[in-house]
Amino acid sequence: MTQIQAEQAPSGVRQFPQGFRWGVATAAYQIEGATDADGRTPSIWDTFAGTPGRVFGGHTGAVACDHYRRYPADVALMRDLGIGSYRFSVSWPRVLPGDGGVNARGLDFYDRLVDELVAAGIHPMVTLYHWDLPQSLEDRGGWTSRATAERFVDLATAVHDRLGDRVQTWTTLNEPWCSSFLGYASGEHAPGRRDPAAAFTAVHHLLVAHGLAAAALRSAGAAELSYTTIVTSVTTPDPDDEADAAAVRLVDGLHNRLFLDPVLLGRYPADLVDLMARHVAPGTIRDGDEALIGATPIDLLGLNYYQPTLVRARPDGVANPQFPGTEGVEFLRADLPRTHMDWPVDAGALRDALVRVSRDYPGVPMMITENGAAYEDRVEDGRVADVERIEYLRTHLEAAHEAILAGADLRGYLAWSLLDNFEWAYGYDKRFGLVHVDYRTQERLPKDSAAWYRAVMASNSV
Ligand code: FCB
Repeated sequence: MTQIQAEQAPSGVRQFPQGFRWGVATAAYQIEGATDADGRTPSIWDTFAGTPGRVFGGHTGAVACDHYRRYPADVALMRDLGIGSYRFSVSWPRVLPGDGGVNARGLDFYDRLVDELVAAGIHPMVTLYHWDLPQSLEDRGGWTSRATAERFVDLATAVHDRLGDRVQTWTTLNEPWCSSFLGYASGEHAPGRRDPAAAFTAVHHLLVAHGLAAAALRSAGAAELSYTTIVTSVTTPDPDDEADAAAVRLVDGLHNRLFLDPVLLGRYPADLVDLMARHVAPGTIRDGDEALIGATPIDLLGLNYYQPTLVRARPDGVANPQFPGTEGVEFLRADLPRTHMDWPVDAGALRDALVRVSRDYPGVPMMITENGAAYEDRVEDGRVADVERIEYLRTHLEAAHEAILAGADLRGYLAWSLLDNFEWAYGYDKRFGLVHVDYRTQERLPKDSAAWYRAVMASNSV
């Protein structure tokens, strides 16, 4: 497919290429609630959130946005906002709740949801794994066990069998960096383990899961195969310093390349092979695995971007628990504005990340599958005037447009998120939605950013 050129009109209006895909993203555990409905069994997030001290305020996803019951109204809301594409995830323990077969009632929900989306003219994009592993699998090792990767193929096949007639876009994983390093090394996410060896083993099994499922989906006839990873731009104040440059390379490797190279190039980054080998249990990486991970070319690379990363060398430091192996690295606090997550805001880093990925991994169309910001929204006179979120989205869209002008093959943008929702370790304290949710009444109130984004999507420009 040749790309139609983006344009920058003299007026300063940035016109996106024709056919640019616009939409929003969510994830099952963050919005669905109904965690014991219709045969669903617990996921690692039910267990984690149910453990005191793990999630802010003791919140869980038991009710969340009650989307499991309110999906018709939520789809109607999306239609009114002019959403073109909706990226949602499937809850593994709804579909494969135990060791046995498929739970038809769990799949029924996604069947109804997809019908509703299609009827509203919205393109459904399915993510098969957005972090809610069945607890029963974690009890047998979770992602440290290769059997979990094999079971993932059963999930992919079951969901595709039911929805493949209406869903074109199939994403295997969302952000395996979080599933492995935050889940198994720093313990900030479920299952809350703090074991660097387990984390690297999980990395490999997640990537194998992608490779196996991508092959199965391809042979089942999936129209558009994709994979989503989180990206950042790693920089240092003094790039000419050799030790600082090495720190950049290591963190870039662990954050970006470890999750891009195997999928797109069929091999682990050469500079990380020793680190991986030192950590994973013997026999984890089998002959042929790297080829297997990259064997089925993806049609769309999903990139989630939130914040930049600033580092420098620091001899004899302590490794950042989120990045095992970084004893020699200091993570710096950039002097930038911050969101309510305390994440630094830097739209230029999004442009740099897009240009860099398109340069280093040519030939793969990209989509921003998540981007957005939490702010301390307030409802005043029936309105949320979230000017900071609009500014965040506007500057990041301008940066995405600059990346297109610089040659990046960017095909679409999905805002995180449609609704305020369960923000993992932070519970309901952080609001990322274009639509405000009153958790006492479940009332939805589109914020000013929703109206703003609607106009962006309608005009295909920013
Ligand atoms: C991403 C997750 C998503 C959401 C945003 C804020 O890392 O994929 O579920 O929590 O962060």
